[in-house]
Amino acid sequence: MKEQTKILHSIPVDELTGAISTPIYQTSTFVQQAPGVNKGFDYSRSNNPTRKVLEDLIATLENGSNGYAFASGLAAIDAVVKLLKSGDEIVAVDDIYGGAFRLFTHIYEKFGIKVTYVDTTHAENVAEAITPKTKLIWLESPTNPTLKISDIATIAKIAKANHCLLCVDSTFASPASQKPIDFGADIVIHSATKYLAGHSDLIAGLVVTKTAELGEKIKFIQNASGAILAPFDSWLVIRGIETLSLRVRQHSESALAIAEFLLSQDNVKNVYYPGLPTHQNHEIAARQQKYFGGVISFDLKIDDKESATQIVSSTKYFKLAESLGGVKSLICLPCEMTHKSIPAEIRYQSGVTDSLIRLSVGLEDAEDLILDLKTAIESLSKTLTFTA
Ligand SMILES: Cc1ncc(COP(=O)(O)O)c(C=O)c1O
Repeated sequence: MKEQTKILHSIPVDELTGAISTPIYQTSTFVQQAPGVNKGFDYSRSNNPTRKVLEDLIATLENGSNGYAFASGLAAIDAVVKLLKSGDEIVAVDDIYGGAFRLFTHIYEKFGIKVTYVDTTHAENVAEAITPKTKLIWLESPTNPTLKISDIATIAKIAKANHCLLCVDSTFASPASQKPIDFGADIVIHSATKYLAGHSDLIAGLVVTKTAELGEKIKFIQNASGAILAPFDSWLVIRGIETLSLRVRQHSESALAIAEFLLSQDNVKNVYYPGLPTHQNHEIAARQQKYFGGVISFDLKIDDKESATQIVSSTKYFKLAESLGGVKSLICLPCEMTHKSIPAEIRYQSGVTDSLIRLSVGLEDAEDLILDLKTAIESLSKTLTFTA
């Protein structure tokens, strides 16, 4: 059976009614036949039938054992970090999502968890940063926003040899494109807010574990901490997943055309897109991803915030907003938006310059999107000529 057929048919038909669309069990509690005797559900924080369909679906999609749905991608990340204890260490990708950096630095450091950031595009940097206290290696691949790619299989071997868990934040790839567990990862997390839900209409997070044993630990944390995904939002993510691979294929096709257009622009300095043969990790991306995704970042030859602000404020179809992975295209300025919580020197080290612009290519026609960007970039050229 091909994957798309498998996805659609692993969403069960409701046993009770035959409903082909998963029912939304909007309930907090479940009536019991006798104390402790129930139909597998007792309280919706612990388990909910709609959420369970999503959790089983994401586990299937990622070729993992267990899946868990959280109220946000950050709540999913938080649940994984809670596997650790005070004194443990994490080795993390330096170009990490700003919210994860904030969580690690401002919440977990004060509980005695140390995080070392390295450029994980060179796997040997990971090996060198591991100490006897390292318990978790944290990758994002591709990273947000400079689309760096790490070699998951090689880093998984390093993790295993050092008795560390490897967790991959696979938000930018989505399971339509990349399955980190197949490459040896122990845990995969997603901000389901992005491609999985796909319509910019909710906030959600998912965790998938390779083993049932690890799954039980996450399940315990999910119930104990309580940041679960609501039934209606679970239903929306299930609905999004039904069209995930179609969407990601189209996002990727349009993104490649736009990345090629950006390369031809005089004002543009770097174009970061793993689908371009010029991308520094293109070969690894091609090995571990089916599609290259819908996110592109680029910066300007004149690296100033004002010029970048002018571009992000003047596009018509690319709407100025945080987030990505939805059907409508978005544009953002990471240094002032998604990555504002990262100190400028650290930000620059990982390539997030003041003029770096991130695009989330939606499902509009690629020709319209290119024209939109062309107009915005040309208006910048006019301003620069005029000022000069
Ligand atoms: C790579 C990555 N991981 C995690 C998150 C956090 O997800 P959420 O916003 O759903 O909490 C984001 C959000 O932008 C992200 O880009």
